[in-house]
Parts: sequence; C-alpha cells; structure tokens
Amino acid sequence: MTASSTSRSSRGPGRGPPRSSRRSSPARWRARSACAFGRTEGDPEIRDLLARSAGLNLGVAYLAGAVGFDPAARVPVPGALASLIVAFDAFVMNVDRTVKNPNLLWWRGELWLIDHGAAFYWHHDWDGGTIGADRPFALIREHVLLPAADALADAGARLGDRLTDEAVDEALALVPDAWLTAPAAGAGPAARRAAYAAHLRARRQAAPTFIGEAVRARAQRV
Ligand SMILES: Nc1ncnc2c1ncn2[C@@H]1O[C@H](COP(=O)(O)OP(=O)(O)O)[C@@H](O)[C@H]1O
Ligand SMILES: [Mg+2]
Repeated sequence: MTASSTSRSSRGPGRGPPRSSRRSSPARWRARSACAFGRTEGDPEIRDLLARSAGLNLGVAYLAGAVGFDPAARVPVPGALASLIVAFDAFVMNVDRTVKNPNLLWWRGELWLIDHGAAFYWHHDWDGGTIGADRPFALIREHVLLPAADALADAGARLGDRLTDEAVDEALALVPDAWLTAPAAGAGPAARRAAYAAHLRARRQAAPTFIGEAVRARAQRV
C-alpha cells in the first residue's frame, strides 16, 4: 500500500522525480496467483518471505530495492501524510507501526505501508457483531509517526469522507471467499462480508473517539 495516493509531497531517500500520475487503490491490486517470484532476491529473509507467498495473494507488490523507514534518519514526513497514516492505523487498530518496528518502506521516493498482520486483532476473538468497534485504541501512543501528525482532525474527516459504505463493500468484495473464515460472523461468505461491513461502518462512526485519543496521545509526546 503506498501513501502516495494521499500525498505526493513525501520524498524520502528515493530516486528520481515524483511520479505524479500514479494512484493506488484496492482495485489496482486484485488477487492474483504468485508463484516462485523473487528467486533472485539477495536478502535471504526476504527471499524466504517471497517463496512462502506462492499461491493466492491480495494487495501484493514486490518493491525491489526498497529501504526501511528509519526514524533515526529523521527524514521528515509531512504532517498531513503522517496524520493520514496515524488515522488509518487507528481505524484498523494496527499495533505494528512503532519506532522499533515501523513497517514502512521508502521506495522510489514514496512511503509504503507494509505488514498489516497485526491490524484487526479483534477478529481473532470476534462474536460477529459490532461490540468494541468504538474502542479508542490507546496503543496509538506508540505510533512512529504520531509526533509528526499535526493535522489529525483533517485526517479523521478525510477518513470519514473516503470510507463510504461503497468503499467498504468494494474492499470486502476483493477478499477471496476462502479467507473469510470467522465462524461467528455467519454462515457463508456473503453473511461474513456483511458482518465485516457492519463492524467497519461502526468503526468509521467512532472516528471522533479514536482521533480524539490520538490527539491526546500526541499532546503527551510533543
Ligand atoms: N512488498 C515488499 N517489497 C520488498 N520488500 C519487502 C516487502 N514487504 C516486506 N519487505 C521486506 O521484508 C521485511 C519484513 O517484512 P514484513 O512484512 O514486515 O514481515 P515480518 O512479519 O517479518 O515483520 C521488511 O522490513 C522489508 O525489508
Ligand atoms: Mg514487519
């Protein structure tokens, strides 16, 4: 997932001019079968990740030559972009975007968000309803970009505008049926998609709560 669709002004240690026409949307990253790509990757850890990615993938893009985001390098991330990333992570309740483990990559001058395996942790123990969708998500205090996120109110408003019911349904339609396994969310993929949609809409409605929490947490850090 690239952050370039939300801001084109972030230029990290990248190469070349901004590619202003590039947009990223879920529709561009449909499920596809990837088999044995990356065999020539030099880093054994990454080569192993790629080898184990054979099969059905969704939203996968191999960013050859990407450089990990290092907070110590102090490459500035614009406040508007940092705020959108914080708002997104608060929405999906991602605990894995910390200073020690930013899960951000610079690639061709743009910031990419990776490794969302720790998001949506609620669905591992989920009754299929909307209880808990309004959690403030206090762990946002650990977010690596929180100090730079000086436009959280705008980011929350934008999140609410962009996350229409249609956008939620579109994203869920991309998820392969076989991945919708939460039994409490109903029998069959359609019921489970509907349960996720209801939960995500309820989460969206809670934006004032989780954005407010992020604003409070930021005030403690800056
Ligand atoms: N799309 C990608 N393109 C290139 N390298 C990647 C990509 N995704 C991950 N990596 C590399 O693999 C490392 C670990 O990836 P990550 O998804 O964070 O796995 P882990 O579960 O081990 O944290 C990243 O820090 C990065 O160097
Ligand atoms: Mg990771």
